[in-house]
Amino acid sequence: MKQRTSINLKELASQLNLSVTTVSRVLNGKAKQYRIKAETEQRVREAANIFHYSPNQFARSLKLDKSETIGVIVPDISNPFFSEIVKNIERESKNRGYAVFIGDSSDNTTQEIALINYFTSRKVDGLIIAPVGLSSSHLNNIYESGMPVVIIDRSFNDVDFPVVTSNNYQGAFDATFELLKNGHTKIALIQGLQNSQPNTDRVMGYVDAMKQWNIPHDKLIIVGNSFSIENGFIQATKLLQAADPPTAIFALSNLITLGVLKAVSDLGLVCPENVSLVSFDEQAYSAFLNTPMTTIEQNREEIGLRAVNYVLDQINGLRLKKGLFLKIDTKIHLRKSIKNLNI
Ligand code: RIB
Repeated sequence: MKQRTSINLKELASQLNLSVTTVSRVLNGKAKQYRIKAETEQRVREAANIFHYSPNQFARSLKLDKSETIGVIVPDISNPFFSEIVKNIERESKNRGYAVFIGDSSDNTTQEIALINYFTSRKVDGLIIAPVGLSSSHLNNIYESGMPVVIIDRSFNDVDFPVVTSNNYQGAFDATFELLKNGHTKIALIQGLQNSQPNTDRVMGYVDAMKQWNIPHDKLIIVGNSFSIENGFIQATKLLQAADPPTAIFALSNLITLGVLKAVSDLGLVCPENVSLVSFDEQAYSAFLNTPMTTIEQNREEIGLRAVNYVLDQINGLRLKKGLFLKIDTKIHLRKSIKNLNI
């Protein structure tokens, strides 16, 4: 067993011949507040460094009856959409005095449940979860247990726990309408995880925009089954190799779009000359692609900020309105990936 090389607060105070209270106040940044001399503050900080002092967070948690930590669980941390949200959550949590533990459920509900149990056993004060999005019973259970929790992105209707998501319906409606205004009527939609709320709402946005343009329902093209690069690649290849391909493809997520771009490239096609493209999800590279992409941006900063606010409200004893459901507006970025067929 590795020998402990650091000392605790009491031993540090004894080394300095100071009271534990004085040393604690210096280390908690309260020297000025308690008029502790600058030279004393300097001595304490130097000794803490020399003796490798680090506060015992477990002892602090027991004393405060809270760990000042938040567990964050997302389906895929390697997906820029989620990693940017996590970054915003981490920054805001730190500003509010909380550390963040991050878990990746790998789009697997069993793993998501295991992470919820693990963070709960580690006594996090609250949870922010972007669920896989197909079942909500385990999320109801954690909410009913009294654990402060906020669900983000892949939400559910008729649930009691607070939800922060995007207005996925409006974003998809706006994207489809932009294509229709440019003369496209054969628009293929490559969807993500079927029955997840964001996907359902985006499909409805596409369907309603096509309906408003009087496109017969049997002319709608809806294919695909996951928010993945592979799904985008496979479906776009099939669509573009058909005898009568669509003039436009609307990809329902950032990763699907990457798959579509690979298919277009592999087939030796060019956007928008051969096919117009729109992506749900803005990414840092969207504007810098060979053909700058028209996208629907979700407000990842606002989603993160609101989620932290709601979970801290609960941690601080505020009972949020039951069924609180926040839909944050999306934003369309019009670039060069849509060909105008009207001219
Ligand atoms: O792949 C990321 C997608 O899944 C995003 O559009 C986000 O909304 C999530 O549901």
